Amino acid sequence: MRFLRTFIKFGNLLNRALVQEVPQRSMACSRFEYVKSFEQDDSILPNVWIVIRIDGKKFHKFSKAHDFEKPNDENALNVMNAAATTVMQEFRDIVLAYGQSDEYSFVFRKETTAFKRRSAKLLTYVTSLFSTSYVMQWSKWMNIPLAYAPCFDGRVVLYPSEQNLRDYLSWRQADVHVNNLYNTAFWKLVLERGLTNQQAEEKLRGTFSADKNELLFQEFGINYNTLPAMYRKGTILLRKRVTVGDKSRQAVVPLHEDLISSQFWKEHTEILGKYVPGTFNAPQGLPRLVELQLNAKRVDNEAEEPQNLAGIS
Ligand code: GTP
Ligand code: MG
Repeated sequence: MRFLRTFIKFGNLLNRALVQEVPQRSMACSRFEYVKSFEQDDSILPNVWIVIRIDGKKFHKFSKAHDFEKPNDENALNVMNAAATTVMQEFRDIVLAYGQSDEYSFVFRKETTAFKRRSAKLLTYVTSLFSTSYVMQWSKWMNIPLAYAPCFDGRVVLYPSEQNLRDYLSWRQADVHVNNLYNTAFWKLVLERGLTNQQAEEKLRGTFSADKNELLFQEFGINYNTLPAMYRKGTILLRKRVTVGDKSRQAVVPLHEDLISSQFWKEHTEILGKYVPGTFNAPQGLPRLVELQLNAKRVDNEAEEPQNLAGIS
């Protein structure tokens, strides 16, 4: 017993010596506290558009492992859209998100003060919320079980002017056009003409858009411009007012429009201007992505409302 008491006493002494408490005015802190000063300030400069782009890691492998349809799997693209919707619901300062293939870009309004504009915080929150939401959404859209955990990288890019921001988004949309036209022609040649991947690649090498359009039309009777807009244009997510019956609610809605044209920016003035969401017209019925939001129980999160959203529910 005496030995035990001496042992405990010695332990307490040793502990005090190692974690020397330094009395402070408000809270106790250890002598190790100084290491915090090694952390770097990564606050993003004011008055710039903050774009966070996430991209799936090795999705050529992931899409094969989960039997994605080639070149576009509507359901898999909707898993991406649904995950991005969750991110937009959480971060009210995201005014637009744009997705294609295994990537999504999130545009934070210039004035955002979310997480004191700390770059690493914004990036890691968006990337991790997107990844976990992707997994949560999977079974709502896909019939095949998830074989392993998908993961996404992320980057922060800053754009100082509206033109830079529009050019960034135009760049991503032009990328869809180039890739999708090529992939559509490529997979037609492989899956329907029986060419090997190498033969299809050789046939398409050095061709221009017009040649691939012509090939699709002449050999497969496909008018490229009539293929689903989601495949050709990607998905733009915006916050809009949706009316069902006599009820009106705000929701994140998917659009597949041409954002390279100035018409798009004239129609959706809330992106660059004062935040007053327009209305969403869906003559062909509400997309499932929106229905799921309207049917979901509203979970109040602690996301901050953007200051200029005052008065809009
Ligand atoms: P890293 O991003 O560098 O890790 O490589 P990655 O394999 O993810 O390639 P990348 O991001 O450049 O391209 C995405 C890839 O995902 C495409 O090349 C396709 O292989 C695959 N992918 C994305 N969407 C679809 C789809 O709808 N259908 C099919 N079949 N594949 C898709
Ligand atoms: Mg990728």
